[in-house]
Amino acid sequence: MQLDYLKRTAQLAAVVDVLERDGAVVLEGMLDRSVVQELNTSLSSSLDRADQVAPHFVNPTVAAFFGDRTGNVTSLAAKCPAFVHNVLCHPVYMSLCDAVLLPSCARYQLNTAHVLDRRPGAAQQLAHRDEDAWINVPRPHNELALASVIALDPFTASNGSTRVVPGSHRWDRGRLPEPTEFVTAEMEPGSAVVYLGSTIHAGGANITYEQRRRGMHLSYVVGWLRTEENHYLAAPPAIARDMPQRAQEILGYAVHDAIDSRGGYLGAVDLQDPAQLLRTGTL
Ligand SMILES: [Fe+2]
Repeated sequence: MQLDYLKRTAQLAAVVDVLERDGAVVLEGMLDRSVVQELNTSLSSSLDRADQVAPHFVNPTVAAFFGDRTGNVTSLAAKCPAFVHNVLCHPVYMSLCDAVLLPSCARYQLNTAHVLDRRPGAAQQLAHRDEDAWINVPRPHNELALASVIALDPFTASNGSTRVVPGSHRWDRGRLPEPTEFVTAEMEPGSAVVYLGSTIHAGGANITYEQRRRGMHLSYVVGWLRTEENHYLAAPPAIARDMPQRAQEILGYAVHDAIDSRGGYLGAVDLQDPAQLLRTGTL
């Protein structure tokens, strides 16, 4: 089994077809090289600072999952304007979310955006499905999440490329992947592997002696789920106020209004839409 590699400019229907068939696809040239360079420049100081303060994880399993050979930068919307302007509302991600998530919600939102700088010696992550963050949602269910890892360095088989199990989004839950069923998403900087929340994957081991492998994991979820990152605290109104309206909405500031589909009205402040309150200066 192989991953399909399509151009960023491929027809949306073709990309969605592959996603539905394999559970994953590589989109080449998702970001221009100039954007990758801008992101890397912007992120370097954050990574340097992150290295000086080891994160304290409340749960040791989370610490083991990320390991001690990985530099982490989160809260990207607050720290990295290049992320807000070039990645957060990227039209390809938005189109894919429209196709995959919007049938199950009134709007989708960013779940997490997280740069992982996987260094020599980083072990392969535990294979997992991102949607298991919400393990209590009864199955079967529609897709809850659309995820992606953007290569900010060359991704090779030896430096820790993301590894996915094509077809695993359709597997019975009791089936575990054999080592030979993993496929490595080798990519040039700026390309991205996109996968469903139901697809088994893992960050690969970095078995090189000196290559770092920097990638940006981001995922979007249906708008009625509790997100892994708390964007309202990470990018509070004082920061979000100056962002484009679409960015505010994707960060979760917009009300999730599902009244017309017999759902609820979620995320209001004083019964108002926080995104609108930001615009009027009330929030
Ligand atoms: Fe994951």
